[in-house]
Amino acid sequence: MTATYEPDETQAAFDRIIERHDRIEPRDAMPEKYRATLVRQIAQHAHSEIIGMQPEGNWLTRAPSLRRKAILLAKVQDEAGHGLYLYSAAETLGVSRQELTEKLIAGTQKYSSIFNYPTLSYADVGTIGWLVDGAAICNQVPLCRTSYGPYGRSMIRICKEESFHQRQGYELLATMMRGTPAQQEMVQESVDRFWWPALMMFGPPDADSPNTEQSMAWGIKRDTNDELRQKFVDMSVPQAERLGVTLPDPDLRWNAERGHHDFGQPDWDEFMAVVKGGGPCSAQRIAHRRKAHEDGAWVREAASAYAAKERQP
Ligand SMILES: [Fe+2]
Ligand SMILES: [Fe+2]
Repeated sequence: MTATYEPDETQAAFDRIIERHDRIEPRDAMPEKYRATLVRQIAQHAHSEIIGMQPEGNWLTRAPSLRRKAILLAKVQDEAGHGLYLYSAAETLGVSRQELTEKLIAGTQKYSSIFNYPTLSYADVGTIGWLVDGAAICNQVPLCRTSYGPYGRSMIRICKEESFHQRQGYELLATMMRGTPAQQEMVQESVDRFWWPALMMFGPPDADSPNTEQSMAWGIKRDTNDELRQKFVDMSVPQAERLGVTLPDPDLRWNAERGHHDFGQPDWDEFMAVVKGGGPCSAQRIAHRRKAHEDGAWVREAASAYAAKERQP
């Protein structure tokens, strides 16, 4: 069907779909740059889900109770599922999961900078759920309406599961805040470490984000980085108050005129260094992923051999 279009007709058909806020599907013709942008974004998202299993997986064997262990295990398994939906969405654009995984472990494709920070206490499990999954929800809810069909549909289920992740994190922190002074301090220390990296999850300020405009014109992104960051801050402040923790930003205050909170800027030099692979755990995360990929080679070979055998008459 695509082959019968003249080039300008192909572009016009694509533009019409975007204009009426409809979805582009794998069968539709699309500009190469649109396809490449989506591959980059979906792959980065998929890698983040899979790498994101590591910081919390670190605490699975040391969960303080059976209940906490069951919750954390379910959450970490959900993240594996999110990675699978997203790799499948990327495959509809003509790239294989194998290819994307190889790019991840070669360091040529990125994942969210937040997962390059260490998890030093069990409170970090709560803080990650509350703030990191909370930031992910702010980023991902608008992506349910993204212009590429398979990506948008995968986000619907992911967002439902992310809500559970945020709830379990908040509930863990609330429980610790009702506990001993040592537990309360553990929560505050954890929030102090994760607040700024969580704000960085929305990407650089709009003025320094050259791809935002094109991504919004294509309907891939629905809100800018700064709009999403503001939404996250406004959402988190009352939750922090209810928990009884302080957010580590001296510039944070309600601005009645704007109807939003004013807040300080994260250290963008640190962000750039972490994005370029200089985060405290960057090398460890990639080494671990590479080893898991290599150790799993026999599973992939066995599955392919079995599928080939099944195909024989
Ligand atoms: Fe996830
Ligand atoms: Fe999550």
